[in-house]
Amino acid sequence: MCGIVGYVGKGRAADFLLDGLSKLEYRGYDSAGIAVYDGTNVHIEKSVGRLSALREKIADNMPEGSMGIGHTRWATHGRPSDRNAHPHSDCSGDFVVVHNGIIENYLSLKEELIEKGHNFQSETDTEVVAHLLEDVYNGDFLGSVREVLQRIEGSYSLVFMSKKNPGTLICTKQDNPLVIGLGEGENFIASDIPAIISKTRKTFIMADGEIAVVTQDSVNISNRRGEKIDKKIFEVSWNAEAAEKGGYEHFMLKEIHEQPKAVKDTMRERIIKDGSGIILNELNWDKDFLQSFNKIYIVACGTAYHAGLVGKYYIEKLARILVEVDLASEFRYRDPIIDEKTLLIVISQSGETSDTLAALKESKRRGAKTLAVTNVVGSSIAREAEWVLYTWAGPEIAVASTKAYTTQLILMFMLALYMAGILGTQEKERIAELVGELKKIPAQISETLSDVEPIKTFAKRYGFNEDVFYIGRSLDYSVALEGALKLKEVSYIHAEAYAAGELKHGTLALIVEGVPVIALATQRSVYEKTLSNIKEVKARDAVVIGIAAEGDEELIKYVDHVMYVPQTDELLIPLLTVVPLQLLAYYGAITRGCDVDKPRNLAKSVTVE
Ligand code: AGP
Repeated sequence: MCGIVGYVGKGRAADFLLDGLSKLEYRGYDSAGIAVYDGTNVHIEKSVGRLSALREKIADNMPEGSMGIGHTRWATHGRPSDRNAHPHSDCSGDFVVVHNGIIENYLSLKEELIEKGHNFQSETDTEVVAHLLEDVYNGDFLGSVREVLQRIEGSYSLVFMSKKNPGTLICTKQDNPLVIGLGEGENFIASDIPAIISKTRKTFIMADGEIAVVTQDSVNISNRRGEKIDKKIFEVSWNAEAAEKGGYEHFMLKEIHEQPKAVKDTMRERIIKDGSGIILNELNWDKDFLQSFNKIYIVACGTAYHAGLVGKYYIEKLARILVEVDLASEFRYRDPIIDEKTLLIVISQSGETSDTLAALKESKRRGAKTLAVTNVVGSSIAREAEWVLYTWAGPEIAVASTKAYTTQLILMFMLALYMAGILGTQEKERIAELVGELKKIPAQISETLSDVEPIKTFAKRYGFNEDVFYIGRSLDYSVALEGALKLKEVSYIHAEAYAAGELKHGTLALIVEGVPVIALATQRSVYEKTLSNIKEVKARDAVVIGIAAEGDEELIKYVDHVMYVPQTDELLIPLLTVVPLQLLAYYGAITRGCDVDKPRNLAKSVTVE
């Protein structure tokens, strides 16, 4: 997720570009850049680091000119660096582009363009777009952009600028946001409304496939077939702060609702086109390698640790390799058995958690092979590990981790399936069947998010309880742990998760009349046993809220309420059952008037031991 801006008008472009980017840093902030056309040349200035580093760099030499584009980056392809920062240009410098998204076929296009003599400066997928435009350009700016769009595959919002076409910007989108702000003698382009709201509230919200030709006095929009579109002006009523949250009240809620796209983006490029399996180009492992180690450790903290518990289940179930999961803060102090036959997988959204980084370094020192699953390109953990798999969730701003968790699950699932494909531990038909279910997950998360009213009602009714219990077996227990952590950290309610089978070994003493118990019952293999545990708590007059798969007509007979999630393979159902638990935590915190995005005592990234 990156932030892009464009300006054409009578003012100094750089002023809007820098101001607009500052309002978009929540979309990405590992590097930034602007390109301004001064009537003769295009000046490109870019810098790794926050936008402030770019401002400092150009403070005494602000590019002059009334047309320009800008970008604040959240790296996906190519680590954060000056070279990889946008804008990117072609060989001649005549064409410049900024991009948010992922060009899935960039490698093949890059090879083709290098063959034709194009020289690339960066490791990014985006630079391919600038060289492609140079390659096809025939004097017709819009026509040439259309041809470029025919060739690229993936998700994008793009703004093009060309020395050959002064006074004109072209922008388009596919699966990523893009808005146009309508000014007086000037027009603005941005990923999101916050960048333009201080300039104008009159906007065009672009739709997938639409292309806009923007000058200082006109905005002409057409569709993929070249047909002119008369768009309705959208008058923005939000205030600036609300706009940054996309209209949601808090980043946590926004990020919960971003999960379908975050999961879809994380799956991109990683599913074989014919649906027969998983490709992880970042790994290139083979059977000998996978058979060269006899143990996998998954080490992480907090939510990432909970994702590791699910990952263990996936790898053992699908790849049949022994996995041990450990809290990073415990791991290296118990003198773990590590040698060159060990694979260590660390999971970390921020890539900066000191306990996790320390465990990674210690394991490397003892000879382990290391893989990092992280959301931040170029983070300390990403740089330290031998291999890296990135979740493409985009920046997660809220302290409570939500979209990072679901993208970690999906990546661990794909890793397990990838390993199973190499080792032959699953029939081809089973792998294809699971890939088919995997592809449905983004839409199923959307479906689960489509009706939050019952959850709001539960949260209001039980939000003032001081104790809440979460129970489940197998994968349901792993998700119960995550649900309890979410509720604790944003609503300050004392919530505990227990393996349902453990209740009788002590915890049942705490179950008295009116205590809320969230019971997850989706794992068919242990369903009857879970049901008997639910009856145990009901017999003590607990209030039980069940989480079940659609079609389950049994559970409602034994509990007070049931929240249903769509049917899918029971391996994948944690991607769905966690959603009502995230929402329950969120609305519980709202009920109690808590500071949802910045809970007391907590930090987004714990970089101290
Ligand atoms: C989760 O909601 C918390 N914010 C916290 O447990 C977090 O998951 C943990 O600190 C690990 O962070 P990381 O994924 O950035 O390493």
